[in-house]
Amino acid sequence: MKVILTILLLFIHSSVRAKDATTLNFIKLFIKNDGKPTHLIYGGLCWKKNVINSLVIEMSKIGVRTSASFKPLSKYQDHAIMYLTDLDCEQSNDVISYASEKELLQFTYRWLILVSSPELKEEKLPLLEDGPVLVDSDLVLAERVGDQFQMVEMHRPGINGTMIITPRGFYNGSLVDTRPNRELYKRRRNMMGHPIVMSNVIQDSNTTRYHLPREDRLQLQYDSITKACWAAANIGFDMLNATGRYIFSYRYGYKVNGQWSGMIADLYNNKADVGTNCVIFRDRFDVVTYTDLVAPMRMLFIYRQPPLAYVANVFYLPFSTRVWVTIAVCTAIATVTLFLASRWELALTKTTTQQQLDGGICDALLLTMSAVTQQGCYIEPRRAPGRMMLFVLFTALMALYAAYSANIVVLLQAPSDSIRSLPQLAGAKITLAANDVDYNHFVFNQSREPLHTAVRDRVFPENGKPRLYSLADGVERIRKGLFALHSVAEPVYRQIEATFLESEKCDISTVDYLVTFDSFTPVRKGSPYLELIRVVHKQIRESGIQSAIRKRYLVSKPHCTTKMSSFSSVGLMDMRPVLILMLYGVAVSVAIVIGEIVLHKL
Ligand SMILES: *[C@@H]1O[C@H](CO)[C@@H](O)[C@H](O)[C@H]1NC(C)=O
Ligand SMILES: *[C@@H]1O[C@H](CO)[C@@H](O)[C@H](O)[C@H]1NC(C)=O
Ligand SMILES: *[C@@H]1O[C@H](CO)[C@@H](O)[C@H](O)[C@H]1NC(C)=O
Ligand SMILES: *[C@@H]1O[C@H](CO)[C@@H](O)[C@H](O)[C@H]1NC(C)=O
Ligand SMILES: *[C@@H]1O[C@H](CO)[C@@H](O)[C@H](O)[C@H]1NC(C)=O
Repeated sequence: MKVILTILLLFIHSSVRAKDATTLNFIKLFIKNDGKPTHLIYGGLCWKKNVINSLVIEMSKIGVRTSASFKPLSKYQDHAIMYLTDLDCEQSNDVISYASEKELLQFTYRWLILVSSPELKEEKLPLLEDGPVLVDSDLVLAERVGDQFQMVEMHRPGINGTMIITPRGFYNGSLVDTRPNRELYKRRRNMMGHPIVMSNVIQDSNTTRYHLPREDRLQLQYDSITKACWAAANIGFDMLNATGRYIFSYRYGYKVNGQWSGMIADLYNNKADVGTNCVIFRDRFDVVTYTDLVAPMRMLFIYRQPPLAYVANVFYLPFSTRVWVTIAVCTAIATVTLFLASRWELALTKTTTQQQLDGGICDALLLTMSAVTQQGCYIEPRRAPGRMMLFVLFTALMALYAAYSANIVVLLQAPSDSIRSLPQLAGAKITLAANDVDYNHFVFNQSREPLHTAVRDRVFPENGKPRLYSLADGVERIRKGLFALHSVAEPVYRQIEATFLESEKCDISTVDYLVTFDSFTPVRKGSPYLELIRVVHKQIRESGIQSAIRKRYLVSKPHCTTKMSSFSSVGLMDMRPVLILMLYGVAVSVAIVIGEIVLHKL
C-alpha cells in the first residue's frame, strides 16, 4: 500500500513541469524565509490539479497547513494565515475584491501574489491600488521573469495616497531578501505627510478649540488632559512623518440608546483614528483598542477627611480603656481610704468644724471628685494620714491631667483617617456631589451594584436637584469640609493648589468610585495606524518626553509641607460629647429634684 502511494506521489511529482516546480520552490523558500508559523490559504488558482496537489505536498513537508477555504477559522490562528493567489488566473480578481471587502488585506494576514508578465501586472495593478492596501498590509507581489522572481511590497500611506512600491528581494534558485528590517512597522514609519485624525474631548471650555492646536499652554485650567494628549500625539505624528489633524468632541463616549456618542463614536464611525486618553470601560473594548497612557486620568471622589471630633469622642481617646478603668479603681480606693481616715480622725477629735470631713462617705467622695476634676474643695482632713492620702491623690492626678489636656489639644485638630474606601464614604455623614461636566451624567450609571447605586442616589437624588457644582464652587466646598466632589482628579488638584492654604491640603483624600484602570489612548479597532501609534507612544514615553509633557501640563496630587502648624478653632461639634454629658447631668438633677419634692410631700 505504502509503496503504491509513494509511486503515485512520484508520478504526480514527475508530471509537474519544470516551470511549475520553480514556482513551488519559490513559494516554499518564501515561507521558510519568513520564519513564522504559517497556514497557507490559496484561492483563485487556475493551476492544473496535479500542480496544486504537489503544492499541498511540498507545504506539508515543511510543516505548513494548506487550505482552499477563505471561511474564517478560529481567530486565534489569524496571525499564521498567508493568502496565495495568482494574477494570471481570471478568478484572482474575485479573490482580491472579496478580500478587500472582508478586510483580509490588513494586519495579521500576509499575502503572496504571483504574476507572470509585466503586461498582466500593469493590467491588474489598479485592482490592488483601489483596495485597502494600507500601512498595515503585508502584501508581496512576485513577478516572474524567466526562471526568476522579483518581489516587491506594496502599501499606501493613507486612504488617498498613491501606492508605494518597495523592493523586497528576488529569487534565482535561492531567495535573497533585501528588506532593511524584517519588522513591518519599522519599514512603514514614513507616512509621507498623510493625515491621521485625532478626536479631542472638550469638557470645560470652548477656548480649547483655540489653544489646543497652538500648543501654547494657555488656559490650562480647561481641558489640560486633552491638551497634554494632543501635545504627545502630535510629536508621534511628527515621528511618523504624518500630518496631525484634529476634530473636537464634547463627550468621551458612552452608549446612549444603544448608539455610541462623543469621541468613541468619532472613532467608531471612522472620523478619527486616535482619541484623547479615556477610562477603560468594558463596552468600549468592542470598538476601540487601548494603547498607551499619556496623561494619568482618574475619576475620584475628592474630599477632606472629617476632623476626628466628628467621628469619635475625642474626650475619651487620650487614654486607653485600661487607663480609664485604673483611674476609676484608684479613685474608689482613694475615697475609701479618705473615708476611713476621716472616721478615725473624728474618733480622735470628737468635735468637728465646717472645714473638716464629717466622717461620711459623701464628703470623702466629694473630695476625691474635686481632685479628679482639678477643682478645689473647702473641706479637708486635719490629721496627717488623711493629708498624706490627699497629697498622693493630687500628685498622681496632676500627671494624668497634664497628659490628658496635652492630648486633647492635638486630637481636636487632628484629621481623622476614617474614610478610606467607598463603603466608608457611603456611610459617612458627608455631602456627595459631582463636578458639573458631561461625563458625570454617565459614569454613575455604569454600575448596577447596590453600593454604587446608593452613592449615585445621593449625588442624583430621586426627587430633587442633582448635586452638581461648578469646579470653583465644588472645590471651595471641599475646603470648608464635609463635602466630597466626584471629578477627574487633575482639574480639582489644580484648583486646590490655587485656593487652599498649605495646612488645608494635609487631609485631602480620594476614593475611586468605579475602581477602573488608569486611562489609555483609544485607537479605532482595525485602524491601520494602530501599531504605528502604539510604537511611537512607547518611544515617546521611554525617551522621557511624556513625563516632560505631564510636568508641563498637569498638576499632581497636592502634598502639604507644613503639618499641624496652623491654628484651628474648636467649634460646638468638637465639644459635642461634653455638651451631651451636661444635658444628661441637667436631666438627672431635674429628676432628683422632682424625686425630692415627691418624697417631701409624702
Ligand atoms: C480623500 O479624497 C476624497 C476626495 O477627494 C476626500 O473627500 C476625502 O476627504 C479624502 N480623504 C482623506 C482622508 O483625506
Ligand atoms: C543568486 O543571486 C545571488 C546574489 O546576487 C548570488 O550570490 C547567487 O549566486 C545567485 N544564485 C544563483 C543560483 O544564481
Ligand atoms: C515626509 O513627507 C514628505 C511629504 O509630505 C516628504 O516630502 C518627505 O521626504 C518625508 N520625509 C522623510 C524624512 O522621508
Ligand atoms: C461649545 O460650543 C458648542 C458648539 O459649538 C456648544 O454646543 C457648547 O455648548 C459650547 N460649550 C461651552 C462650554 O461653551
Ligand atoms: C441613569 O440612570 C437613571 C436611573 O436608572 C436614569 O434616570 C438616567 O436617565 C440615567 N442617565 C443617563 C445619562 O443615562
